[in-house]
Amino acid sequence: MIEMKPRLPRMAAAGSEVQEPAEIKKLAIIGAGKLGEGLLAGVLGSQLAPVSCVNATVAHQPRADYLAEKYGIQAGTGNRKAVSGATLVLICLKPQQVKGFLHEVKRELRKDALLISAAASVTTSLIERELSHPARVVRAMPNTPCLIRHGMTAIARGKHATDADVSLANRIFSSMGRTVTVDEKHMDTITGLSASGPAYVYTIIESLAEAGVKLGLPRELSTELSAQTLLGASALVLQTGEHPAKLKDAVTTPAGCTIDGLLELEEGGLRLTLIKAVVRAAQRARQLVDSQAT
Ligand SMILES: NC(=O)c1ccc[n+]([C@@H]2O[C@H](COP(=O)([O-])OP(=O)(O)OC[C@H]3O[C@@H](n4cnc5c(N)ncnc54)[C@H](OP(=O)(O)O)[C@@H]3O)[C@@H](O)[C@H]2O)c1
Repeated sequence: MIEMKPRLPRMAAAGSEVQEPAEIKKLAIIGAGKLGEGLLAGVLGSQLAPVSCVNATVAHQPRADYLAEKYGIQAGTGNRKAVSGATLVLICLKPQQVKGFLHEVKRELRKDALLISAAASVTTSLIERELSHPARVVRAMPNTPCLIRHGMTAIARGKHATDADVSLANRIFSSMGRTVTVDEKHMDTITGLSASGPAYVYTIIESLAEAGVKLGLPRELSTELSAQTLLGASALVLQTGEHPAKLKDAVTTPAGCTIDGLLELEEGGLRLTLIKAVVRAAQRARQLVDSQAT
């Protein structure tokens, strides 16, 4: 029987007290694509900001019209207009677009605006350097399950960001799942682990499902069994706070069938392959801002 212990602890912000987040007076969401729309829905849904104070931008007008119609916010393609007067700017652009955006809006940006960037690979110091004032910047690295409020977001503070800024970022991303506050030096690793991670997990789900199909299960049933197994096992890790190896041992009866399966995984190098996948993705995360990747 597995003992239920407190949930896995969260890392606290280094040297920071939990502070009441500041009120959002005017919010600009720049690059309201998949993530930006998820954040928009989260912010409105958790009443962190009223509809009337939100302005979102995209590259194409039809997308802006869709956002304006669906959420009742102001939406358009003009970044300068959107940031003008904004007290909070959420940057959800592709990494290679961030410098150009900052250059474009530098003059309109309020000196006291908080910038929260979710762009992979873009450091807080890069953003600070592009602006000619000591800007308050927070960096966030979410993942795609945020879109269904089961996300994992890591949050790191820039040089001039306050505890209240970090609290506000946590409040915003909590509307999309779990959050942790970390030192920024860990962000590329986190990008390779929890931001790229869903892709590794989908591969595992698909592979387990293929096995079921190979052994005669209908594909739909096999995929459901596989996906729910990962979901349940993950929940057990988070809710018990147990080491995954201990939970694995609990499933592994001596001379039973699970040990045979585990030995196959060892022979196939699953562990080492996953470790190498995260290391490679983290290395790549360092280069994204200067690459042409889309
Ligand atoms: N998706 C995730 O779960 C996730 C997770 C972690 C990090 N991120 C980061 O979030 C960022 C966005 O990812 P995404 O998946 O949301 O991408 P996406 O769906 O392609 O969204 C990008 C948005 O930017 C808009 N855009 C392009 N050029 C613009 C400009 N000059 N001014 C204003 N808006 C512009 C696009 O408009 P149109 O729609 O009109 O083309 C699009 O809506 C990336 O930096 C990524 O690293 C995303």
